[in-house]
Amino acid sequence: MSQIEFNEQMAAELEAVYARRDIRRRRALVHEALGAAPGERVLDAGCGPGFYAAETLERVGPEGSVVGVDASTAMLALAAKRCDGHDNVSFHEGDVTALPVADADFDRALSVQVLEYVADIAAALAEMRRVLRPGGRVLIWDVDWATVSWHSEDPGRMERFLRAWDEHLSEPSLPRRLSAELRAAGFEDVEMQGHAFVTDDLTDESYAGALVPLMAGYVGTDEAQEWAREQSDLQARGESYFACIQFCFTGTRP
Ligand SMILES: C[S@@+](CC[C@H](N)C(=O)[O-])C[C@H]1O[C@@H](n2cnc3c(N)ncnc32)[C@H](O)[C@@H]1O
Repeated sequence: MSQIEFNEQMAAELEAVYARRDIRRRRALVHEALGAAPGERVLDAGCGPGFYAAETLERVGPEGSVVGVDASTAMLALAAKRCDGHDNVSFHEGDVTALPVADADFDRALSVQVLEYVADIAAALAEMRRVLRPGGRVLIWDVDWATVSWHSEDPGRMERFLRAWDEHLSEPSLPRRLSAELRAAGFEDVEMQGHAFVTDDLTDESYAGALVPLMAGYVGTDEAQEWAREQSDLQARGESYFACIQFCFTGTRP
């Protein structure tokens, strides 16, 4: 199996998932940790459907600005639509390992659930450092998919399903080495925070509930569909359980 292609259909599905409760909670945690202030210039590397860009525009105000970069034109189209009407935002197609922006041009740079798709982490972090001004703040958020604990009455099938899902990523447990990678890239004051996303009510508003159809669609086997049906049966019986840890890393460019 290969990495997810963020084509039009996947971009639309992800956009719908990202409007849900748990992802809104995640964005609130990111905004708090990033701390963008009025008048600042912020880069979103791997901006996806543009939720962070739109919300960051409110934080930086008319004197500030936001630039979004993504490898997917479908994602960029959604992001541009979301930020329509603002003249202090721009979106560019590009790779996080070769950002199409100038040196030292940003006060803050974020990249949320993007680096786990990237093969060359050192190159991506070197780019984040290059584009920040001295004293600028970086924020990287990724999931350690090995922390997923998910109830099923067929643990073997659950395990096979999760391993198949891992194949959509370059590195399913990237957070394990991100602190060291950030320091190696030259960032100071590197901090890591873990945030638990847990639920015993697998509604669409929960992180896992929202992802069930998308994950089953990606894995794409009959067994994956059986797995998805079991999850809705468990939910109907009030027996759902899901837990995982997502990690927020921050650092400063000296
Ligand atoms: C899971 S989505 C996250 C989107 C957004 N950061 C958010 O949290 O709302 C991952 C995004 O990373 C983008 N992406 C993956 N690999 C990339 C790369 N090497 N360079 C730029 N964007 C990339 C995808 O196109 C997709 O939009």
